[in-house]
Amino acid sequence: MKVFVTGGAGYIGSHTLVQLLTAGHEVCVFDNYCNSSPVALARVRQLTNRDMRVVEADICDADALTRGVTDFAPDAVIHFAGLKAVGESNDIPLRYYQTNVSGTMNLLGAMDAAGCRRIVFSSSATVYGEAHYLPFDENHPIAPTNPYGRTKAMAEGVIADWARATPDASAVLLRYFNPVGAHESGRIGEDPDGIPNNLMPFIAQVAIGRREKLAIFGDDYDTRDGTGERDYIHVVDLADAHLAALGYSGAAQGCEAINIGTGTGITVRELVAAYERTCGHPIPVEIGPRRPGDVASSYAATKKATNSLGWCAKFGIEDMCASSWRWQSGNPDGFGDAPHSS
Ligand code: NAD
Ligand code: WQD
Repeated sequence: MKVFVTGGAGYIGSHTLVQLLTAGHEVCVFDNYCNSSPVALARVRQLTNRDMRVVEADICDADALTRGVTDFAPDAVIHFAGLKAVGESNDIPLRYYQTNVSGTMNLLGAMDAAGCRRIVFSSSATVYGEAHYLPFDENHPIAPTNPYGRTKAMAEGVIADWARATPDASAVLLRYFNPVGAHESGRIGEDPDGIPNNLMPFIAQVAIGRREKLAIFGDDYDTRDGTGERDYIHVVDLADAHLAALGYSGAAQGCEAINIGTGTGITVRELVAAYERTCGHPIPVEIGPRRPGDVASSYAATKKATNSLGWCAKFGIEDMCASSWRWQSGNPDGFGDAPHSS
């Protein structure tokens, strides 16, 4: 199958490329590298011994996007490109709406121009907002609590309306929980710019000595040990979910939202302890105040993913930590320390 992948150089995109190319699909990546490096694509080529087409451009440039999609004439699109930092979305909301909502509209327009009717979209569990009940199932009310989450909820709505209005269209909205870990080779992984916003890359940077200690954002939550509980999902499992969603989109019409998680919550302290077992030394922590907007617990109902996609997570927390550590210790400065071709 020919698959057009926006944001393919990023963390989840690069891992999905490995699975797509390994499965024999033909790929075109569309990325402006605003939060990624071409080194990631070079490493994907090395890992798979396969090549791919690459267009360096912005999804906000509707003409470039239409040219990219029509030239490649894909069977399906996977749409990862977007901005994802919750805190930053409070500071520059318009840039988030432009990239995540207008960018998605540009992409659907480009697909119309190219006659492509299948899309798999990177949505987020953040669209649910405060939990009315747990686990979150796909019918849980949508009430995001920050601009980033609202852009994802809006993009979901735009895609759903497009699918309703487009004969034979098929859209799968994958609502990721907390993606972590790296490819088992240790050659690609998450390479955050500056201070990591998320827990796992922060732990990894403390483990390698790039940061002194982890601040735990509150230990007075109503959870097993008082720290926040999340549904961490191995990025390679998540990548496989995209291949399953592509298969599903070939057989189903309309628009479906599907959670992608393990169904199991892990607390901050449990994740730190698992990482310590992996790296073999203690990870200094300090208890700090709660982070505004954080909830005690979040984890997925996974029945729909199993029933619709025939997919379920294979990797556990030890695999997530081991692969993260392999990537972090082999690339202490992420992709930054490597020349572009290596
Ligand atoms: P990432 O930042 O590593 O990857 C996003 C990619 O999109 C990058 O390569 C970036 O350069 C590219 N991009 C951004 N804006 C662009 C633009 N205007 N034009 C072209 N390319 C652009 O992020 P990721 O973690 O791989 O996330 C991928 C998608 O999954 C995002 O849409 C994100 O919102 C969503 N998501 C991520 C998480 C997570 O925790 N990582 C959770 C839920 C959903
Ligand atoms: C996990 C737990 C923190 C950092 C975010 C986005 C969400 C989605 C995934 C994109 C919480 C605690 C964290 C630290 C800590 N992204 N923590 N110290 O908040 O569940 O979700 O990423 O769609 O939209 O909001 O993930 O990794 O930031 O936090 O104690 O330095 O770790 O309080 O309990 P979160 P996270």
